[in-house]
Amino acid sequence: MVLEKIFLKRNFKKEKKKSSTFNRELGFFCFRFKMSEIYDSCEKIPIHIEVALREDVNLAMDELQRIILQRLSSNYHIFYNHMEIIGFEDIAEYISIGDINYDKIVSFWQAEFIIHIFRLSHNLCEKEFIENEDDLPAAEQWELPNVYLSGYWDSVVVDQIIKKRLLGYTSTSMQFSEALINTDIITCNRIMLLHGPPGTGKTTLAKSLAQKTFIRQSQKYTSGLLLEINSHSLFSKWFSESGKLVMKLFEHINDVAEDTETFVAVLIDEVESITSIRTSNSSEPGDAVRVVNSVLTCLDNLKRRTNVLVLCTSNMLSSIDPAFVDRIDFKVYIGNPNLSARYQILHSCIIELMSKGIIKPAVSLESWINADFNNFESNEYALYNVSIAAEGFSGRSLRKLPLQAHAFHLDSRPCVTYHSFVAGMRDALNAMNE
Ligand SMILES: Nc1ncnc2c1ncn2[C@@H]1O[C@H](COP(=O)(O)OP(=O)(O)O)[C@@H](O)[C@H]1O
Ligand SMILES: [Mg+2]
Repeated sequence: MVLEKIFLKRNFKKEKKKSSTFNRELGFFCFRFKMSEIYDSCEKIPIHIEVALREDVNLAMDELQRIILQRLSSNYHIFYNHMEIIGFEDIAEYISIGDINYDKIVSFWQAEFIIHIFRLSHNLCEKEFIENEDDLPAAEQWELPNVYLSGYWDSVVVDQIIKKRLLGYTSTSMQFSEALINTDIITCNRIMLLHGPPGTGKTTLAKSLAQKTFIRQSQKYTSGLLLEINSHSLFSKWFSESGKLVMKLFEHINDVAEDTETFVAVLIDEVESITSIRTSNSSEPGDAVRVVNSVLTCLDNLKRRTNVLVLCTSNMLSSIDPAFVDRIDFKVYIGNPNLSARYQILHSCIIELMSKGIIKPAVSLESWINADFNNFESNEYALYNVSIAAEGFSGRSLRKLPLQAHAFHLDSRPCVTYHSFVAGMRDALNAMNE
């Protein structure tokens, strides 16, 4: 391995295949490298490296990519999901590695590095108001990629295959639109839906998917926006007007998307509120029909905008109008977390509390992958038991559990030992189950 690495480093310069594209205004770069030809017989594993440049770094992009690859090759021999990458503090706000299967370790020579370099926006979301309807926020607008969305993707624990498929879908659908694939021959509406019970991370996933997609596609666009429409709050209050409002809202989206160099992700949260079945026995069926028809017409018009991606979430798939469901390219069910996900969520909570000194002294607590649950005395086994007891809880409830435990079962003490905290969480679980 060492010899191979030395060989690779020596031959890297002349044998690497390099392609890069540059996005003029904001300076986004995407580089694709395949390591030495000699290993081309082995299947290369793509590794996406995301580099959020520090604001004060003004190095030329070629220089940056040289530094990044050089440091990676000299400091790391293997790569795995969520590994901590250090030694880039002088150039990057963060650098992350994603999408390697949980059980996979990829050696340097197996890797095909795809490096995405970008600058994060530090602007909070802005409320966009519908023209002539000043008190009516149409959408919340985020500049992408945004620092406030940057931890979301990793914070939601779902099956790795789901995240892979989500990214696969968005990449392919944007690629197809860019290639102007004839949608009469191959259906590609660029509309997807995450559905499942409440509190399972759908909204969080959808927002972070918009961010990830933009980072992965950023070489094609000069800027990115996420427009978040909360259908429920918007349409419950102005129901009788909502057909007209939908039209205005989509007009606004259309205007924003007119600039083909801007990537526009539209998040329609809790989409069932505006696309509930037209024949439902609502008190104002005429309005319901008008709203659904407006949404369908607007979505059809938006289809010609190849820079737009529509991400929807729903807690109630069954109440969405079939004509809308028909337009969805890809729908994914997000359920309550399974045992390993519950363990990982609670594990992240405990690590946070230890790092802030609420759980004291800090103890060693292995992640799901590395834990040995055969040792009944171990710290991991204690958390494993709580995770078993939390079956049926949503991710949202699990993230609330530490607060409930500390506030109601541990007398809000300034600091608590690990085992007392775990016992507190068990009590909180029992109380929430009652
Ligand atoms: N599977 C999960 N893993 C980690 N955190 C989760 C998970 N599901 C939900 N959460 C957390 O619960 C909160 C609510 O999630 P949200 O995206 O609003 O859920 P939904 O839209 O499905 O109702 C968020 O803080 C999120 O991080
Ligand atoms: Mg939601």
